[in-house]
Amino acid sequence: MNRKTLFIASQKKGLSTVRRPNFESGTIWTQDNLLVLQGIDSECIDLIYLDPPFNSNKDYAARIDSKADGAEFSDRWTPKAVAKERIDLIEAKHPMLYRAIRAAQRDSDTAYLFYMALRLLEMHRILKPTGSIWLHCDPTMSHYLKIVMDAIFEKERFRNEVVWCYTGPGSPGGRQFNRKHDCLLWYSKGDRWTFNKDAVRIPYKDGKPHVGGWNMNAEEAKRYGDRGKIPETWWADIAVAIRSSKENVGYPTQKPLALLHRIIGASSNENDMVLDPFCGSATACVAADIQNRRWAGIDISPKSWEMVDERLRGRQSSCERPRYHRLDIPRRTDPTLLRR
Ligand SMILES: C[S@@+](CC[C@H](N)C(=O)[O-])C[C@H]1O[C@@H](n2cnc3c(N)ncnc32)[C@H](O)[C@@H]1O
Repeated sequence: MNRKTLFIASQKKGLSTVRRPNFESGTIWTQDNLLVLQGIDSECIDLIYLDPPFNSNKDYAARIDSKADGAEFSDRWTPKAVAKERIDLIEAKHPMLYRAIRAAQRDSDTAYLFYMALRLLEMHRILKPTGSIWLHCDPTMSHYLKIVMDAIFEKERFRNEVVWCYTGPGSPGGRQFNRKHDCLLWYSKGDRWTFNKDAVRIPYKDGKPHVGGWNMNAEEAKRYGDRGKIPETWWADIAVAIRSSKENVGYPTQKPLALLHRIIGASSNENDMVLDPFCGSATACVAADIQNRRWAGIDISPKSWEMVDERLRGRQSSCERPRYHRLDIPRRTDPTLLRR
């Protein structure tokens, strides 16, 4: 069945959102994700998880004694980060978004937000109408990013802000509390989305649900207790992938598999396509593969492909150069292809 017939067949079945991506599952692109995202067909991704630089004003490098040795990226921002024509394009086509970004007054913050906005606009385009996006950030920029996300995805599509709490050594000085949480902003693209609450239940602390006010008898309480509870919007039960843990590959800012398992388990179904456009050591790709999702990752560092190869050895993965042509529109009239 060719792509067009498949799309029509799926519409007949009432699954108007079934559209095959114009790339294979298991692809890792090692290039600037803006170029790759621009080459992906519209509305073909079920779940996007992104863990971009947080605007931390730091440089990151992998431990030299680790498998990820050689991986590095800079998280410092100056107005040079985004070309003026692209900023003008946002001002002309997305005035609300432009105003939201301009609310940040520091040059480094606006540069970072324009950089993010250009990519988030593409991510919005490639998500299926039933798809979800999880943006991982921290309190440095989460307040601005939420306004940017509202402008791109609409405020009504905001589903949750999950606070991932962890612990670890703190910064010396002791003049304020240690910052030990990240923020995950979940938006759906439309008014239907996947939420597999039963796939991500966790045990109640003492084996029992909190029965206060629920009027549960002992038998009901046991039944609910056995099923486990749906996590709330603060997750304190997932530890960072510390150096001594088996999954740690030494990649700077590597996220724990358990975190990705919960996000992917809740917001996608088997065979769905999961994309991580800042995939680093490919944690999201690995979690997606384990959960029988289709997946693809993008990272500007070629080390990413080595990491996915290492972490998924024995399973199938391939490394592709980006395709600049979309299959869902005539080639020459692609409005999103901005020349560098
Ligand atoms: C915070 S790390 C991601 C870590 C990842 N979640 C993991 O668990 O290993 C951010 C990644 O974004 C990548 N990156 C930064 N700018 C990029 C760009 N324009 N295109 C693609 N990747 C980029 C960096 O190389 C880095 O690997």
